[in-house]
Amino acid sequence: MTKRVAIIGAGPSGLAQLRAFQSAMGKGAEIPEIVCYEKQSNWGGLWNYTWRTGLDEYGEPVHASMYRYLWSNGPKEGLEFADYSFEEHFGRPIASYPPRAVLYDYIEGRVKKAGVRDWIRFNSPVRHVSYCEDTGLFTVIAQDHEKDREYAEEYDYVIVASGHFSTPNVPHFDGFDTFNGRVLHAHDFRDAMEFKNKDILIIGTSYSAEDIGSQCWKYGCKSVTVSHRTAPMGYKWPDNWKEVPLLQKVERNTATFKDGSSTEVDAIILCTGYLHHFPFMAEELKLKTNNRLYPVNLYNGVVWTKNPKLMYLGMQDQWYTFNMFDAQAWYARDIIMGRLDVPSEEEMFADIDKWREEEDSLPDDYAAITFQGNYTLHLMSLTDYPDFDVTDSNQAFFEWKKHKKENIMTFRDNGYRSALTGTMAPAHHTPWKDALDDSLESYLQTEA
Ligand SMILES: Cc1cc2nc3c(=O)[nH]c(=O)nc-3n(C[C@H](O)[C@H](O)[C@H](O)COP(=O)(O)OP(=O)(O)OC[C@H]3O[C@@H](n4cnc5c(N)ncnc54)[C@H](O)[C@@H]3O)c2cc1C
Ligand SMILES: NC(=O)c1ccc[n+]([C@@H]2O[C@H](COP(=O)([O-])OP(=O)(O)OC[C@H]3O[C@@H](n4cnc5c(N)ncnc54)[C@H](OP(=O)(O)O)[C@@H]3O)[C@@H](O)[C@H]2O)c1
Repeated sequence: MTKRVAIIGAGPSGLAQLRAFQSAMGKGAEIPEIVCYEKQSNWGGLWNYTWRTGLDEYGEPVHASMYRYLWSNGPKEGLEFADYSFEEHFGRPIASYPPRAVLYDYIEGRVKKAGVRDWIRFNSPVRHVSYCEDTGLFTVIAQDHEKDREYAEEYDYVIVASGHFSTPNVPHFDGFDTFNGRVLHAHDFRDAMEFKNKDILIIGTSYSAEDIGSQCWKYGCKSVTVSHRTAPMGYKWPDNWKEVPLLQKVERNTATFKDGSSTEVDAIILCTGYLHHFPFMAEELKLKTNNRLYPVNLYNGVVWTKNPKLMYLGMQDQWYTFNMFDAQAWYARDIIMGRLDVPSEEEMFADIDKWREEEDSLPDDYAAITFQGNYTLHLMSLTDYPDFDVTDSNQAFFEWKKHKKENIMTFRDNGYRSALTGTMAPAHHTPWKDALDDSLESYLQTEA
């Protein structure tokens, strides 16, 4: 009987898995039956923008954390699919930091070409996944919102590709309940125009903090105050931007920080990260981790050690994204298709420990990028995923970091060389800070 594989999620990771199987099929291999469950009405995961926050039209938690005017925060040369270059998709070289709509178009282009949409059941959140030792099968219970029914099906393999930047981590600070303004998490941030002429306070110092603050600055907020728990970001910020220690309390509109300083703010945006959250997985199958480069219990960052018929994609903290998800998906495919074996549980744990020890000793971000590049390279060496020069992609990330240090508000005006085509990206027609229209049409224009 044909094996059955369930994939949970049709974001970049789930779509990588569909493309991996389709690629094997295209080369004449017999592939398992694939069913991909997607809770939203379209594919693309976080790149599928919605204005909604809170609950969706079916009462499901809204998955999206994307907002309007978002441009890629890293160079596209670091995430390019090795089997589908930006040049192939757009028919010419494009600049290095595409806005969301452009990246969505690129993600969609590859899977449209592969013809895998029919493998996806949309509006279908997975409710529960369990495993039966006696039958050796997983039971996946899902909701079909179109037919308004819940149903169960059995599978030989399950691949969890449901993302981990969707369930907000929301700390509490004294005085939030009586604050005279809006308190929101980055997950619910949609449009920087809401904060025009406002004094905003941001908590957190990672990518959401940096980018949401920059968006609000670009679209005309009055001032940005960023509060850190561990250390300030330390970029050369514009004049109406300051970094302060951790928030202690708010009283009406006054925010007071750990060093005793205070400032008046109109809104507070919690850029405090996300939780790995899998309420639909049975307890013994549930990944529990913080946001790091090598989560525990996943052999080669993918295979659930306690039951290698279960796999997780894209669960790492991410420098590399789309191409790393691909490398993982090709690897998962080859295990399922019997082309690759997994070792004993003991050997898997020993291997995981080795990677995690290395991660724990990484001195800085440059080493972390190289670590994730090497991890991606390691997976690629196990399958027929097309090779690309990881050293070139690492280099694009290194230059990106240097450009951010030079000027945080102009780093997106730089271009990098594609590891696939060798082409140097052209400059965008308008500097990022002046480009207020984030549409695909505007980005692809050759002149301002
Ligand atoms: C604000 C923001 C900006 C980002 N910007 C960049 C960037 O510029 N460049 C970059 O490379 N990366 C960026 N990322 C990182 C992002 O994680 C990846 O680009 C990518 O979206 C991860 O893909 P994924 O498929 O693993 O997860 P997701 O994109 O989160 O997709 C997961 C999918 O699973 C579905 N799903 C979830 N639960 C269920 C369920 N129970 N049943 C069925 N379906 C389910 C969701 O609806 C979703 O479609 C950003 C992340 C955030 C939050
Ligand atoms: N334009 C873009 O492309 C863009 C924009 C936004 C986000 N993203 C992506 O989104 C993903 C998530 O980024 P993220 O910044 O949301 O999460 P993150 O990288 O996990 O960072 C979480 C931040 O929250 C802080 N924090 C957590 N709990 C806190 C608390 N109780 N009090 C104070 N601070 C607290 C952390 O501080 P400590 O350092 O003290 O732990 C850290 O600075 C990344 O992959 C990023 O690339 C991309």
